[in-house]
Amino acid sequence: MALSSNGIQSIQELLDAQSHVWNHLFNFINSMSLKCVIQLGIPDIIHKHGKPMTLSELTHSLRLNEAKSRSLERLMRIMIHSKFFINVKISQADEIEGYWLTPASHLLLRDEPLSVRPFALALLHPVFADPWHHLSEWFKSDHDLTPFVTTYGLTFWEYAGQDPRLNCIFNEAMACDAKLAATVITEDCRNVFEGLKSMVDVGGGTGTVVKAIADAFTGLNCVVLDLPHVVAGCEGNENLTFVAGDMFEYIPPADAVFMKVIQLWFSI
Ligand SMILES: C[S@@+](CC[C@H](N)C(=O)[O-])C[C@H]1O[C@@H](n2cnc3c(N)ncnc32)[C@H](O)[C@@H]1O
Repeated sequence: MALSSNGIQSIQELLDAQSHVWNHLFNFINSMSLKCVIQLGIPDIIHKHGKPMTLSELTHSLRLNEAKSRSLERLMRIMIHSKFFINVKISQADEIEGYWLTPASHLLLRDEPLSVRPFALALLHPVFADPWHHLSEWFKSDHDLTPFVTTYGLTFWEYAGQDPRLNCIFNEAMACDAKLAATVITEDCRNVFEGLKSMVDVGGGTGTVVKAIADAFTGLNCVVLDLPHVVAGCEGNENLTFVAGDMFEYIPPADAVFMKVIQLWFSI
């Protein structure tokens, strides 16, 4: 075989190139395995167990058919490789190992205040994942705003406005991401808000970030502007108001405009 005609100089280079392609081809296994361990509730099961858990204990807790134990072991091996779990020696003598949590899997626990579980499940929902299959189609289209539009014929915001379940999944995802961001903002970025009398969070979702800011900076009047289906049912208080509207038509006046993650993923 004339390797050099392909720009490949040696058999080793050929094999490395093939591994490179395969690694990219199967990259989705990382995110789908993550989705699977979240859906099975594995982080919560290990956390509840309170100490490293063996494969057979985990298989038993999940009430899986014993025949699936080998597959569970493979799934956990992927997740250990991705640093979501670690293997801990339980008994030196018998070389028995158990699965234990890492900081990343702590963020997947249901009851962890800063859990990213709803965010992960929403982003890996087929409705969000499918547009990636239409990316090349979108590149060739002259009129579709985003790959989401190419896939469904609607913007994500229109879709969510018509599908209350997805609207709820998405708003919960945003709220959990917002909780984490709010913790960082109110602790590490206090100087940004000093001296402000009013602030509007444009596309502020159900107001998680703004509520934390309003609590941390009493005297700051906050407004959340978002689409009607998002703010429907959101209740304000004396220094927090929800406004339903379209940011392209009207933005309530304020000393400062706050924007966090408005169109990013869907406008690629
Ligand atoms: C990715 S979410 C981010 C929500 C929130 N800023 C956060 O980070 O948690 C984007 C938000 O922008 C809102 N949005 C999209 N288009 C909008 C528009 N034209 N006018 C007002 N809000 C809009 C969506 O409804 C959604 O709540």
